[in-house]
Amino acid sequence: MWCPEGLDEVEAELLGPPEELKGKDVLEIGAGAAQCSRWLSAQGARPVALDLSHRQLQHALRIGGAFPLVCADAGALPFADASFDLACSAYGALPFVADPRLVLREVRRVLRPGGRFVFSVTHPVRWAFPDEPGPEGLTVSASYFDRTPYVEQDEDGHAVYVEHHRTLGDRVRDIVTSGFRLVDLVEPEWPDWNTSEWGGWSPLRGNLIPGTAVFVCERD
Ligand SMILES: C[S@@+](CC[C@H](N)C(=O)[O-])C[C@H]1O[C@@H](n2cnc3c(N)ncnc32)[C@H](O)[C@@H]1O
Repeated sequence: MWCPEGLDEVEAELLGPPEELKGKDVLEIGAGAAQCSRWLSAQGARPVALDLSHRQLQHALRIGGAFPLVCADAGALPFADASFDLACSAYGALPFVADPRLVLREVRRVLRPGGRFVFSVTHPVRWAFPDEPGPEGLTVSASYFDRTPYVEQDEDGHAVYVEHHRTLGDRVRDIVTSGFRLVDLVEPEWPDWNTSEWGGWSPLRGNLIPGTAVFVCERD
């Protein structure tokens, strides 16, 4: 699943036809509990699930799966050049790093020539709206062009959650200057069957404004 809208890789085939995943080396960035790697493994691929958070990887370990879990920063990948055929990320790492070009360059380095990197992030347009699922989430309250990160702090003033904004143009520029070709930009529409609310995502908002951007990139 690429996003809260419910876009499923089985229907989207952004990594290619599922039957062609068999035997492919796939790196999942910001894997969390590694649900994507678990699906990839079931298709016969050879995934590696990478996350910065040891805690998230403990959840992955508890749920199980016959693939490696790697605790590392996506901006400093502990792999040799040209180790993977594909890389993917569902909302992992890229929204949370100040300079996503570091991640993109690292992913490019570890991909084999012609390799594909597909990643989803919050659609940049959402930055201008309050993160609310109801009607209050439909009125612009901030500048789309303001790149000041969103930061939550604990009572001692330590940052506990940080999210960085890139405009759509920033994202395209980051991808292209990191040595990728942008093959597609998917903006999943909210499907009728999805009645769930999750954080700022809801049928109300999803029917009016995009919530997710999925970038499909290929290594030149
Ligand atoms: C919103 S979660 C997405 C998890 C999973 N992909 C999913 O679909 O449920 C973002 C994940 O990115 C990870 N992350 C954040 N910064 C990272 C970094 N610099 N390197 C690797 N992982 C990172 C977080 O630890 C978290 O597990």
